[in-house]
Amino acid sequence: MADSTNTLMEKLVALCKRRGYIFQSSEIYGGINGFWDYGPLGVELKRNIKAAWWEDIVRKRDDILGLDASIIMNPKVWEASGHVGGFSDPMVDCRECKGRFRADKVAIVNFVRGEEVLFSASVETDDPVEAVSLARGKANSKYRKRLEKAGDAVAPSVTLLSKVAEGVSVQCPSCGAADSLTEPQNFNLMFKTNVGAVEDSASVAYLRPETAQGIFADYKNVLDSSRVKLPFGIAQIGKAFRNEINPRNYTFRSREFEQMEIEFFCHPDEAAKWYEYWRDARYKWYVDHGLTSEKLRLRDHEADELAHYAAACADIEYEFPFGISELEGIANRTDYDLGKHQEYSGKDLTYYDDETKERFLPHVIEPSGGVDRATLAFLCEAYTEDQAPNDKGEMQTRVVMKLHPRFAPIKVAIFPLVKKEGMPEVATAIHEQVKSAGITSFYDEKGAVGRRYRRQDEAGTPFCVTVDGQTLEDGTVTIRDRDSLAQERISKDEVLAYVRDRLG
Ligand code: GAP
Repeated sequence: MADSTNTLMEKLVALCKRRGYIFQSSEIYGGINGFWDYGPLGVELKRNIKAAWWEDIVRKRDDILGLDASIIMNPKVWEASGHVGGFSDPMVDCRECKGRFRADKVAIVNFVRGEEVLFSASVETDDPVEAVSLARGKANSKYRKRLEKAGDAVAPSVTLLSKVAEGVSVQCPSCGAADSLTEPQNFNLMFKTNVGAVEDSASVAYLRPETAQGIFADYKNVLDSSRVKLPFGIAQIGKAFRNEINPRNYTFRSREFEQMEIEFFCHPDEAAKWYEYWRDARYKWYVDHGLTSEKLRLRDHEADELAHYAAACADIEYEFPFGISELEGIANRTDYDLGKHQEYSGKDLTYYDDETKERFLPHVIEPSGGVDRATLAFLCEAYTEDQAPNDKGEMQTRVVMKLHPRFAPIKVAIFPLVKKEGMPEVATAIHEQVKSAGITSFYDEKGAVGRRYRRQDEAGTPFCVTVDGQTLEDGTVTIRDRDSLAQERISKDEVLAYVRDRLG
């Protein structure tokens, strides 16, 4: 990770804590690894992202129905889905420092000149570019000088731990001890619990590791109760839990997170067409909501990356400060899941088409996104530093969260210029009017007005309205645009309509 990207992440994490976007869970007790809380601004941001998804996917469409399934389900669901048998990561432990690592996320980097290995280090990543930069950072001054002296003659080679030949010495990526890593062991990622008063093997249940299986388990109920016809989808937003071996990169890999998933059921002959449709539609959704930079990309999986049951898969990826990683996956899962649930439940899950008189198991296209990862990507993209004048007209660095207006936690902030002369009363009346129209508004009368603007810039508030002396004379207020800093004078009675028009 380069220094500049480190700095961006550090600044973002600090801002999120300072301004109440994201806190470490149970921080007063030292926190708990892999769990995060969303503060007053963060919860609004996250709710806005989920609401936008729900509106675009469920409410605006006739072919998708919503669902809210339970988190704990009959454990047979997870046997049928393959999670009991196969939802595991290969894990290695260090016998020296007791560190625990995913075997598929440890890379060994050798800096080679000709036949000679000048420097070697193990690092925790599966991204070859990041691996080289992390390994360079581990070189002490002696080895750094050696690498610098060798210059272009040095060729770094990166090998994942899972691909290292037997007998080759490997260091621990944390403490550096040689040959201290155990053989990989599979570790199931599902959180276990017990249902009922008795804690025995018969009462074991799991916290769902994905929302998708709730949709498959309810597919027949939705079909029968809503009399919908193929093609149609079922959408769900909800919590998922995975006992990740190494939660990392802030909220990116958490142990408790939220997913927004669609299972789109269609005729097998139409699956390829619907796969293309969803792949492109989901990519466009992120672009339309502000991930417009070259940091967003759509990556089709190579044939050897596909799960055995999948006909096609693509990832929507974002270049976070810590590397390029997945935001959402779109998969053509064929009839695998319904087939498995039909087999394990013994219930007929086929679809009967009364026009063609055909009976078959529908195929499924699954766009599966993470709410927390989307939130983090929108936060990273929004973080901007520019120059703006302070109260004395001096240019200063301003931090502004250029969030899409649909996602902004607060849409309008209303300020009286001073706390007297009737200005608070006028400002409060505008604030009440905006709030009662269902638009989030924030009233602030404390401190210099420049400071109040800065606080709203950090909150990503698209519009700030100031009531000043002129308001009392002609009934106009200033309205300031967060991104352009342009200020317009409009009638105080037009504030609501102005904001509504621009929020869309
Ligand atoms: N039903 C398919 C499924 O769950 P997945 O790729 O394992 O597929 C889908 O998860 C999405 O859920 C990911 O693209 C990611 O956005 C989110 N996700 C998965 N594991 C996560 C974790 N540990 N922390 C945060 N988000 C996660």
